[in-house]
Amino acid sequence: MSKVDKYIASLSSLEGKKVVVTGANSGLGLAIVKTCLLKGASVVLACRNPQRAGKCKQDLLKEFPNSNIDIILYSQDKFSSCRQFVDDLFIKHGDFYALVLNAGLFNAKKGELNVEGLPTVSGTNAFGLACILMHLDEKLKDIESEKRIIIHGSLASRLSKYKGLEKSLLNAKAFHFTQYNNSKNAAHNLYYYYSIKNENPYIKYLLSEPGIAQSNIIRNYPKWFKWIAVGFMKIFCSTSKEGAAPTNYLISEKVANGDYMIPRGPWAIRGLPKKYVMKEKYIHPSQVEEMNAFIRNKK
Ligand SMILES: NC(=O)c1ccc[n+]([C@@H]2O[C@H](COP(=O)([O-])OP(=O)(O)OC[C@H]3O[C@@H](n4cnc5c(N)ncnc54)[C@H](OP(=O)(O)O)[C@@H]3O)[C@@H](O)[C@H]2O)c1
Repeated sequence: MSKVDKYIASLSSLEGKKVVVTGANSGLGLAIVKTCLLKGASVVLACRNPQRAGKCKQDLLKEFPNSNIDIILYSQDKFSSCRQFVDDLFIKHGDFYALVLNAGLFNAKKGELNVEGLPTVSGTNAFGLACILMHLDEKLKDIESEKRIIIHGSLASRLSKYKGLEKSLLNAKAFHFTQYNNSKNAAHNLYYYYSIKNENPYIKYLLSEPGIAQSNIIRNYPKWFKWIAVGFMKIFCSTSKEGAAPTNYLISEKVANGDYMIPRGPWAIRGLPKKYVMKEKYIHPSQVEEMNAFIRNKK
């Protein structure tokens, strides 16, 4: 048995618990889902593409024949869809135990804007996430059963230097690594903001980082680059199962509001999970208020 399989075997059972995962049909989202099913949870795949979601459900049912799997469709690059997702979640699966906000993308075409007129990467990883959390916040205030909201961050967030909304999140022409780093730093700020603001003892806002893990995250690159990068990732980076382990820990084990898990290896690139504390220099308290004001103005 591999180290990560032993680790997963040691995690607590999720029998009778429901876990919702966004971006569940690929990469880390799929790996998180598989561990949850193995641990006895029922799962909801929150995906943007009906065909990919349906195929994913069929494949999972072959691997986990007696499991309970549902699908919610939404797209994180559209505010109305993000709000609808939260509404659907409470209408159909209000009994969920954990919500993993994993969906995200690494790069888009230079200058590409989404339907909201936002750069595609920050529109999805930062603003879409902010919109979901803003709407969730209203719904979670009076909840009296435990719910874990897990944000999927990245070590790339530590490479970001926040220079205000305009320069850091609204510039679709910035180098794509910079756009990604800034968008994931925004995800970390969202986690920090809501974990500090949270006064409901039943609700836990949590953050996990996967390190660098094999997935389909470089799907938008040219073939030659993918060929080299996939080879590199197979040798030096973790499998998606290992990259998913910090999140699976936060779903399964006893946690406190604000807990944050990263891989324990050098530079947090790979390894089994360990607890971490966010450093003050990466926190930009005004950023979330600025994003929220932007989203409200779009209504
Ligand atoms: N892999 C890594 O090394 C790494 C490192 C740090 C952080 N992360 C984070 O981990 C998360 C998952 O990434 P991954 O590596 O597993 O990549 P992936 O294999 O490309 O999976 C990304 C998932 O997000 C979904 N998604 C993308 N845009 C969406 C949108 N607008 N609305 C709804 N869903 C959307 C994708 O759906 P489709 O399949 O339909 O496109 C896919 O299911 C991301 O937040 C990423 O930033 C990954």
